[in-house]
Formats: sequence, structure tokens, C-alpha cells
Amino acid sequence: MKDQIRQVQENALSEIAASSNEAAAIEAIRIKYLGRKGAVTELFKNMGSVPASEKPEMGQLLNALKNAVTDAIDEKLRNSTAAGEETLEKIDITLPGISRKQGHIHPITKTIYEICDMFVSIGFRVVEGPEIETEHYNFETLNIPLEHPSRDAFDTFYLKSGEKYLLRSHTSPVQTRFMEKNKPPFAIVVPGKVFRPDATDASHSFMFHQVEGLAVGDNIKFSDLKGALSIFAKQMFGPDTRMRFRPSFFPFTEPSAEVDISCVLCRDKGQEASSKERCSLCGGKGWIEILGAGMVNPKVFEKVGYNPKKVTGFAFGMGVERIAILKYGIEDIRLFFENDVRFLSQF
Ligand code: DAH
Repeated sequence: MKDQIRQVQENALSEIAASSNEAAAIEAIRIKYLGRKGAVTELFKNMGSVPASEKPEMGQLLNALKNAVTDAIDEKLRNSTAAGEETLEKIDITLPGISRKQGHIHPITKTIYEICDMFVSIGFRVVEGPEIETEHYNFETLNIPLEHPSRDAFDTFYLKSGEKYLLRSHTSPVQTRFMEKNKPPFAIVVPGKVFRPDATDASHSFMFHQVEGLAVGDNIKFSDLKGALSIFAKQMFGPDTRMRFRPSFFPFTEPSAEVDISCVLCRDKGQEASSKERCSLCGGKGWIEILGAGMVNPKVFEKVGYNPKKVTGFAFGMGVERIAILKYGIEDIRLFFENDVRFLSQF
């Protein structure tokens, strides 16, 4: 029995030492010796036939054998490779680091910041309003009654047919929302998204951005409007930029104007060029429309509880995409919304 024990121990230890490091190979050796029918287990079974006087010594030897084989297997397993797994993570500290691309703000956001910063520098503050509006604020408080034809151009996305909630078609409703809660004098600019049921093409989108302006006080005049807007035009499009006001109509301003700047592409030379080489931007007119403006209609003041005999004010509204398109020479409004990094990374 002693010889058998020694023999099994020798075989087991040399087999373990010679085995590959694969976990499966080591497991096979463990089963061969320590499994239910393994060589070590069989020796334990033979203990029954060992004379009682030798039992303690045999027991000790067998336990020592079992421990020796178990320890050797455990040690081997610690260095083993489980199938398909890397044992150690290899780090090459001489490799260059992984550089991650840094994002930046969208050209429309950038343009909004630029417009607002400019107006803030002359005393305006930035205010925002809801994108989901009521007919009351989107139309009625702005003197656009239900039957008014100008409502057609604005007729927009109603949230449920027959209900009074809609996606605002312009940022002008923030004018009356603000006036209801604040007393003049004040000057605000209001950036935000607006929605119109326009078919999408190179110059139209069902969603775009506007910046609204409103200044109300004691003795605010049309010349104040002109002053503020000409600072804006020169800041945005360069110091040589000229501006002109054309009479127009908006229900919430009286008088109203459409404001043009001298063409940023041909620099006003459009009219002089022959028809063949007409400026592609202004079509030879020399002027480009950039916004709508006017003096706040007294009816709007009445709707928010101001006394139109005591206060006057000017308002304006511009499309941000249009400003960005002119400033950066972009040909298609859809580029802003396609999320193509080749386009966006240029700003
Ligand atoms: N709300 C007008 C639009 O979306 C733009 C506008 C025109 C705003 C004149 C004004 C304004 O505040 O005075 O077309």
C-alpha cells in the first residue's frame, strides 16, 4: 500500500508538471487522480482492507498524497490559460494616446449667440418663451384676428385638430407674454424655434429659428429702431454694410417696414453689372431682405394693459438661418439640419 501511494504520487506530480497550461488538460488530470473513480480515491477505498494497526499511518499518508496532488493542481491552474482568454493585459506605454474628437456648438446656435451678444452689448436682455403656444398669444394678442388674411401664411401645426394649442409660427408671441408680466422701460431679444407648414427646399424648412426684438419705453422713436438695427447690420456683415427700410405691413406694428442690407456678395454692385453677370445672391438688385420691423401697434399695447398714449416701442424679427446663410455663404438651408459633420466641422 505504501509503495502504491508513493507510485501514485510520483505519477500524478510528474504528469501535472509535464501538462500544458490549458485549463482543460489540468482538469483531465484532476479527474484522473481525484475524481470519483480517480487513482487517489481508489486508494482511499482500499483503506477498508488495511489492518487496524496500520490504519492511522496509512490514513496520514493518503491525506498527504491527496493534499500534495490538490496543491500541485491548484498551483498549475493559477498559471493556466482558460480557453480563448488572454492571461495578462498587455499595455504598451509607448503607444500614442487615443485622441477623441471634440464637438462644438452648431452654426445656428453660434449665430444666435452672436446676434444676442450684439444686442446685449447695447442694453437688451435675452428672454425665452414656449414653443407650444395658444392661438391667443400666437395671433390674437398680436392683432391678428381669426379672419385676417395674414393668418394664412402663419397657419401652422395644431397639436390636436380643433384645439387651441399649436407650435408657434413666430417668436412674436413672446412680446405680449413678456409685456403682460413686466413694466416698461425694457429692451429684450428672444431667440427660439418656430414652425411653419412649408414644403422643405433649399430656402424653406418647416422648422427654423428667429430672434425677436422689442424695446418699449417713454419716448422710443423710429430712429431708435434704425440705430439699433444699423449697429446690428454693421456688426454682423461688416462696417461697410448699408441698410434700407421699405414700407410693409405687419398687424402688430404700425408703421411697419421690411429691412434690407446691401448685398454681401456683390457689395451693392449688382445693379451696375450687365444681365449676364448678375449677382447670384441679390439677382442684381443690390439689396437683400433680412428682417421685418416697425413701431409697436397701439392695439398690441392695449391688449397687454399698457397705455398707448404713454409708451411707445419698436419691434423686429429676423430669421437666424437666413442671417447665417448670408454671413457664411451657404446655399441650402437643409445643410443645417442634416447633421453631416463634414459641413458642421467647418464652423
Ligand atoms: N413675426 C414676423 C414673422 O415671423 C417677423 C416680425 C416682423 C417680427 C415685424 C416683428 C416685427 O417683431 O416688428 O414674419
